Amino acid sequence: MQTMPHLFTPFPLRGVALANRVMVSPMAQYSAEHGLVTDWLFGHYGRLAIGGAGLVFTEAVKVEERGLGTDGDMGLWNEAQIAPLRRVTALIRQAGAIAGIQLNHAGRQAGRSPPWEGRGALPVEVMQRRDRGWPVIGPSPIAKAPGFHVPMAMTLADIADMCAVWAAAARRAVAARLQGLELHGGHGYLIHQFLSPTANQRTDGYGGSAKNRMRFALEIAEAVRVCWPADRPLFFRMSVIDEGGWHFEDSVVLARELKRVGVDLIDCTSGGIAKATPTDARNVAPGFQVELARGIRSAAAIPTAAVGLITEARHAERIVAKGDVDLVGIGRAFLYDPFWALHAGVELGADPAFERFPPQYGWWLNRRRVQLEREGLDNRSLP
Ligand SMILES: Cc1cc2nc3c(=O)[nH]c(=O)nc-3n(C[C@H](O)[C@H](O)[C@H](O)COP(=O)(O)O)c2cc1C
Repeated sequence: MQTMPHLFTPFPLRGVALANRVMVSPMAQYSAEHGLVTDWLFGHYGRLAIGGAGLVFTEAVKVEERGLGTDGDMGLWNEAQIAPLRRVTALIRQAGAIAGIQLNHAGRQAGRSPPWEGRGALPVEVMQRRDRGWPVIGPSPIAKAPGFHVPMAMTLADIADMCAVWAAAARRAVAARLQGLELHGGHGYLIHQFLSPTANQRTDGYGGSAKNRMRFALEIAEAVRVCWPADRPLFFRMSVIDEGGWHFEDSVVLARELKRVGVDLIDCTSGGIAKATPTDARNVAPGFQVELARGIRSAAAIPTAAVGLITEARHAERIVAKGDVDLVGIGRAFLYDPFWALHAGVELGADPAFERFPPQYGWWLNRRRVQLEREGLDNRSLP
């Protein structure tokens, strides 16, 4: 009898058990309206829900309106946003996956056009035309790059309020029946802006030394942990290295501290503070961030996920089998093939009878397999 591939072994975290090691990485669709889930998003998450991943993350959901990266970002800053999100959660949970939400605040990266319109800073007139304007905030009044908004530096009162804002969003995530929660601490967004010296030049307790720059991330994590149920895991996405003076050694210290305040897993990515994000970085190769996740896992003794150009089932299997990481995050490969994990299960021999598929599909595919095998034909070469 064939042994179960490592990619398809369960992974328990606090009170939830992932059926396998595949995680759908958060992927913004820029398709919400007033932060609310739209028909496109129901269709999109419905497809991802039944794709066989053990854990399906939503895209970055914004904790407040000022934190919107684009007008089409999903949000969880008011009560009306809970019920539609609960339907997304239901789609994922009904399919047997764990439903995760990523929370985020764009900070100085707020107020941009969507990728296919250039991702540039929206003109000031457009920003001001909104109901209450669209104030852009950050740790220091430093723009990401020429042409981007210069944020207003957050006061100490703003920082205290921000912890409450994230906590309130986490409470709404509980109401929406999410089972995992990830804080987006990478890719140049607000939390990362506090961590990285190129964006944070504060002279108070939140700036200067690496320890001070970590304070905001830790306070947010603590505030969220308090209202996020003890039986549900808390993730932190970290740009483990960036192009603005944040180093691997800093990430090790931060990961240890996050673990201390109740974070369960570090989702390891890189970059985004000044220029590129991993989706447009140079010198990428399959699994280019696995080394970072392996390093954090061993130095900080905390579970990790690796993400970035992991596209092939056998590659994902090797990464998990080596014990480098606990989960593999799959992003664009799921856009190409929303059944990526189901197909990986078939390819790796974990699902010869299509039992991991929803029965509405799997029953027929297995019947076809039996029929073909009876005729001496190889079912595996068929789509
Ligand atoms: C369409 C799209 C939207 C993304 N949105 C987010 C996001 O909301 N939050 C996040 O942390 N990363 C986001 N990312 C980055 C992915 O989660 C992932 O880290 C990256 O795409 C690399 O993995 P891949 O090579 O498997 O796609 C996005 C990527 C894509 C392609």
